[in-house]
Amino acid sequence: MIFVTGGAGFIGANFVLDWLVENDESVVNIDKLTYAGNLESLASLESDKRHIFVQGDIGDASLMAELLEKHHPRAVINFAAESHVDRSIHGPEAFVQTNVVGTFHLLETIRAYWNKLEGDNKADFRLLHVSTDEAYGSLAKDDPAFTEMHRYEPNSPYSASKAASDHLVRSYHHTYGLPVLTTNCSNNYGPYHFPEKLIPLIIVNALAGKPLPVYGDGQQIRDWLYVKDHCSAIRRVLSAGTTGETYNVGGWNEKPNLEIVYTVCSLLDELRPRADKQNYAEQISFVTDRLGHDRRYAIDARKIEHELGWKPAETFVTGIRKTVQWYLDNQQWVVNVQSGAYRDWLETNYQD
Ligand code: NAD
Ligand code: DAU
Repeated sequence: MIFVTGGAGFIGANFVLDWLVENDESVVNIDKLTYAGNLESLASLESDKRHIFVQGDIGDASLMAELLEKHHPRAVINFAAESHVDRSIHGPEAFVQTNVVGTFHLLETIRAYWNKLEGDNKADFRLLHVSTDEAYGSLAKDDPAFTEMHRYEPNSPYSASKAASDHLVRSYHHTYGLPVLTTNCSNNYGPYHFPEKLIPLIIVNALAGKPLPVYGDGQQIRDWLYVKDHCSAIRRVLSAGTTGETYNVGGWNEKPNLEIVYTVCSLLDELRPRADKQNYAEQISFVTDRLGHDRRYAIDARKIEHELGWKPAETFVTGIRKTVQWYLDNQQWVVNVQSGAYRDWLETNYQD
């Protein structure tokens, strides 16, 4: 079996759902259930015995040690983090606590567990740490995309805390020989994305008739990857990656934010036209820019493509259509997130 931490969040939940379609191997999913953790995203696994959910903190060394001893996983995939840049600007402490201190405790607990393993169990064990392209900093318009050799230049408290966790993970390989893998991925989008992030926020606000906030001039560039392609990349790195290596994951889909917003608006115009027949783009509202806003991210994904044979299945055109359609088909999920009702899911559905 494998451990997934942060598996009730956006990417973690998609990963767990896809894992159990692709594999018969059980998952112990450890998630603190912060505001970003939503067990309703995993509702389809309610009676699936291969999914064991534990509410817990990656920084809780005694809990993690107990779980490792009890279940003996062959791998841990660490998604658990505070992930929203804007929140890190308003309150950086939680980011240091989970992303830096929490990852440190997780590493210590895993090191102690791994030290006791023997033979093939020890040789085959993996810790895969899920990280971000934001650790590399910001690119100018004509700079080449980030390769794995790019210097770390994080600019927000979020990206600095992720960069710190990446360095700790790297050091545990170099110093103790812990078999780690790190992935640095670009912006994900897709189902179960919390509507504080750009794409789900635009969809949800558009449908609610609210303004669509675009920071600054809207010309900041992000490199978008459909979340299920990120999940397939993680599976590939887990099965074939070389320990101690990092792998950039991206979709070769650089787009300015304003173009993203227009694309979402025109899909909604087609799929769910406004009652007054006006375009959703009329709701666009330029607002004050994010502090220290990174101008451009771009991922050079040739290493994972050439060495591990991974390729994304979706283009931006196909992925964004699926995403908009998912939000139209799953409005109750959004309603429950907005009302906070998703927080009751644990009590009502996982009493045992
Ligand atoms: P998310 O905020 O949606 O989910 C994070 C999950 O971690 C939540 O379920 C939360 O409850 C849980 N969590 C937080 N603190 C915890 C703790 N101390 N112990 C246990 N669980 C805890 O984030 P996401 O967008 O799914 O991102 C997952 C990972 O992928 C993060 O490490 C993030 O840095 C990285 N990443 C995200 C993106 C993206 O575009 N979203 C891109 C690249 C990398
Ligand atoms: O690059 C990977 C990163 O992508 C991940 O590491 C982060 O966890 C993830 O949150 C995401 O970070 P961003 O800051 O790029 O994502 P966000 O959706 O918050 O913003 C995307 C862009 O849109 C960014 O340039 C800011 C802008 N934006 C965002 C919001 C929420 C707006 O213009 N308006 C908004 O309301």
